[in-house]
Amino acid sequence: MTTVLQDEFPLRVPFAMPDIGEAEIAEVVDTLRGGWLTTGPKVRCLEEEFAAFLGGGVHAVAVSSATAGLSLALDGAGVGAGDEVITTTYTFTATAEAAVALGARPVLVDIDPETLCVDPDAVEAVVTERTRAIVPVHMGGMACDMARILARARARGIAVIEDAAHAFPARSGECLVGSLESDAAVFSFYATKPVAAGEGGMVVTRDAAAAGRYHRRRLHGIDRDAFRRAGGALQPWAYDVVERGYKCNMGDIAASLAIVQLRRAWSMHRRRLEIATFYDGALGDLPVHLPPRPARAQDHAWHLYVIRLRDDAPATRDEFIRGMRRAGVVCGVHFIPLHRMTYWREALGHDAGAFPAAEEAFRTVVSLPIHSRMSLADQEIVANAARTLLA
Ligand SMILES: Cc1ncc(COP(=O)(O)O)c(C=O)c1O
Repeated sequence: MTTVLQDEFPLRVPFAMPDIGEAEIAEVVDTLRGGWLTTGPKVRCLEEEFAAFLGGGVHAVAVSSATAGLSLALDGAGVGAGDEVITTTYTFTATAEAAVALGARPVLVDIDPETLCVDPDAVEAVVTERTRAIVPVHMGGMACDMARILARARARGIAVIEDAAHAFPARSGECLVGSLESDAAVFSFYATKPVAAGEGGMVVTRDAAAAGRYHRRRLHGIDRDAFRRAGGALQPWAYDVVERGYKCNMGDIAASLAIVQLRRAWSMHRRRLEIATFYDGALGDLPVHLPPRPARAQDHAWHLYVIRLRDDAPATRDEFIRGMRRAGVVCGVHFIPLHRMTYWREALGHDAGAFPAAEEAFRTVVSLPIHSRMSLADQEIVANAARTLLA
């Protein structure tokens, strides 16, 4: 099936592409030669550099995925059976799945139609005495209205765990996402993310005690990981299980990739920003709404560049995406709202009418390719294809 499609419609610009260079390869080879593959010196180095990158005295704990990190952080905030966790329907399933994994019930709310981020008023409307946490999602790499979300949550003693899977590096006001006053922020290093390690994630918190808990719980609740024990302890076999845990530690091979990607994060971000600025100029006169943006375009991580087709566009969303694919350009849809998914519909029983802004966004959104491996020629292929279909 894939072969037929590729033969018929050759691929010219993929939707996403990890930006892996010789430095990443060399760092992985160094790890392979070093003889320590699981959580060890590279993970520790990544955690230190990630925390320093964000500043504000945060602690960073590397995990196997953002999904696992969200569960760790919600667990650390005391979320458990019978609790409610408020999040947006306009996200990837991982956001809500993390709450269900702890026996809690996700409560989905609608988005702001302009930013596609969770609507703080909608959050406020569903808070109950069972609400234990709010999980705002920085959609596409643009920070939510964190000032309002944090102020309201603080006033009610509710934890805030940021789903920052898309938001590295991004700013909210003057602060980098990850250094705000939430309980924790969780980043993803999945293959398509701005910092890519294949799989992986980072939980960041200002709370040293919480960071210690994440460290232990990511590895079975063990008090000293194998690398610490191997490092000269007289009894390297000795360890204790001091609390319940998970198995979601990051290994040193993934950390090797992430270390180099992190050091290149600003230059890769600059490239994404250039592409976003180019698209703004090239598509601004078409019947589309350009992506939502913070006051300063550089505060957006530009993990996604999401346009919305206006009603006067000569193509529907699906016709447009098919036309782009015929032209060799792969586009995405972010997101199919959770309330449209079989599992969530059956588990939560939400009525689609409850989410008019998410429904409307879903009907019209298209994510265009944006990644730091794209050339100027690639940008032009995308823009010209879009112009041919919509002008
Ligand atoms: C909004 C959001 N949250 C969480 C995740 C999960 O990230 P990971 O694949 O690292 O678990 C994703 C993945 O794409 C995502 O888009």
